[in-house]
Amino acid sequence: MNNKPLAAHLPARILVFDSGVGGLSIVAEIQRQLPACRISYCSDNAAFPYGTKSEKDLISRVDKVLRAACNLEAIDIIVIACNSASTLALPYLRNHFEQPVVGVVPAIKPAAQLSKNKRIGLLATPGTVSRSYTRQLIDDFASDCQVTSVGSSQLVNLAEQKLRGETIEQAQLQSILKPFKNTGIDTLILACTHFPLLKDEIQVYLGSAVSLVDSADAIARRIAYLLKSTETKVDPKEVNSSLFTAKNSDVDKLFDVLKKYHLQHSRYLQV
Ligand code: DGL
Repeated sequence: MNNKPLAAHLPARILVFDSGVGGLSIVAEIQRQLPACRISYCSDNAAFPYGTKSEKDLISRVDKVLRAACNLEAIDIIVIACNSASTLALPYLRNHFEQPVVGVVPAIKPAAQLSKNKRIGLLATPGTVSRSYTRQLIDDFASDCQVTSVGSSQLVNLAEQKLRGETIEQAQLQSILKPFKNTGIDTLILACTHFPLLKDEIQVYLGSAVSLVDSADAIARRIAYLLKSTETKVDPKEVNSSLFTAKNSDVDKLFDVLKKYHLQHSRYLQV
């Protein structure tokens, strides 16, 4: 059943899942390419961050939250908009959920193809950098490249702060990105969905000679493929929604951001 085009089942509702606000970088691209889709944005903010969690805890946590979300809303496609979770849990999730599961994983193949000098950077969470899935992608698609990897949870926090309207310490951003400075990379993979939210800041620090690559476009195209046999006819009564696992003041601070993505209707999952 997985990865087959959906049968007519309208309107298509896409569950976009992340630990925090990172998945919004994927929502933006889905909304741009597939405006007829309805989005249920699910943030497991109670268990944020995912990038430092043990592999065993992470799989069961993701399973639990996704199940709660799918019980609450009729979901057609699940998007794991989180590299830290996808690089670990995709096979499990594809075996345990009836919906197609699309995973955001590091864009190593496109980056290796794009790089002219075959020096690329991988910027991800510590979890994603250490996964065997990620190492395999490098072996399979970037064996001709010199790959510099940096795993940072601090950068994930900076993206969260930015979306809550808080000030970002440029010095902190610079110290995280410093290991890339003298490597001569011409391409940097943003392998955490939080990082495209800091694209401008990262680009300013690394300079325009470094191309930044992420997975959002490929994910939206994959969803479009899955929806190919579905007529895009939207029921006006269907609305986007946002689901959180913890109710706290940080969620309140996201009001303007959620509004920007038309996700104002917030609900809370008991998990
Ligand atoms: N946005 C996530 C990712 O793509 C996870 C960040 C985190 O919770 O550590 O890896």
